[in-house]
Amino acid sequence: MAQTASISFDRFNQLPDQAAGERIRAAREKLGDRVVLLCHHYQRADVYAHADITGDSLKLSRLASQSNAENIVFCGVHFMAEVADILSRPEQVSILPDLAAGCSMADMASLAKVERAWRELSAVLDPDEKVTPVTYINSAADLKAFCGDHGGIVCTSSNAPKILQWSFDRREKVLFFPDQHLGRWSGFKMGIPQDEMVIWNPDLELGGLSREQIAKARIILWHGYCSVHQMFQPADIIRFRNQYPDGMVISHPECSFEVCRQSDHIGSTEYILSTVKAAPPGTRWLVGTELNLVQRLAEEVKHEGKTVQFMASTICMCSTMQRIDPQHLAWTLENLVEGRVVNQIKVPQHEAVLAKVALERMLAAS
Ligand code: 13P
Ligand code: SF4
Repeated sequence: MAQTASISFDRFNQLPDQAAGERIRAAREKLGDRVVLLCHHYQRADVYAHADITGDSLKLSRLASQSNAENIVFCGVHFMAEVADILSRPEQVSILPDLAAGCSMADMASLAKVERAWRELSAVLDPDEKVTPVTYINSAADLKAFCGDHGGIVCTSSNAPKILQWSFDRREKVLFFPDQHLGRWSGFKMGIPQDEMVIWNPDLELGGLSREQIAKARIILWHGYCSVHQMFQPADIIRFRNQYPDGMVISHPECSFEVCRQSDHIGSTEYILSTVKAAPPGTRWLVGTELNLVQRLAEEVKHEGKTVQFMASTICMCSTMQRIDPQHLAWTLENLVEGRVVNQIKVPQHEAVLAKVALERMLAAS
């Protein structure tokens, strides 16, 4: 049968949000269980409302591998759709409604730069004997493949200390990329002194470190960060505590070390939601993570007399996650109704095999 062209996005671009929402519902009805919608907690409300499954990166990657639907539509960012492709069955299709939905932190480490770091480290020690490469799940598939190939592993915000322990059980040092803050906080939780955690600047020779610093280091932290979470400041916490001495502070581990240290609880997006939801009525919370999540949580718990306040005075949204809007979702689903797959995320086979090794190590270890 001759292939017909996919429906162009131009026809959806100007669609009002509400109309797009109605078309999403109609398309979903037609698709039934041929499609599953996985949605990260940072997603905007008018997309989140259509989710079959919501979660943090660990939960969503586990569930992507267990779904039976032939089409996995990922309302998240690029690396999440890659993980869904790697962990799902070969006949399943992973789709990202807007290909511009990337993660700026993931882009801070590239395979070329990590390979160069590995080569440079080998001038000081044998990295394949002494260093476990650990990549945060917020990274491209080729970096996960690098870890799979070099005895390394993937971690998420909810299992990073456990994964570091797994790594130290095998080799004496860790190269942790791309998020320095998650690496530092997890190392701190394990009792590793600050002076045994050094920053690798990929734009400088030998990461800007001396041979002595590398020899002494337990964790070599990539110079990467999340531009959303680095907006939160210790001063925001101090102000809140002065105003509400009984208030509680909860933050994501992508926040800076000082913000984490001054928080009462640290954890993944799923952990933040479950902790505040389980808290006693009448409690007050300051939350250091993305705005969509915080606003939704505030609405959900206010009938119990709980108050949820956003940590920053400026707007901190994940602008790349925001690219997944009702218009792109409606466009994606209507194409599926017509038997067309648009924006498929397909990791090349040789990368997917090795990346899966690193992901499965993580799933087994957590
Ligand atoms: P979680 O795994 O905690 O959902 O974090 C993902 C993320 O990108 C946070 O910025
Ligand atoms: Fe990436 Fe930060 Fe957005 Fe998370 S909030 S997806 S780390 S840019």
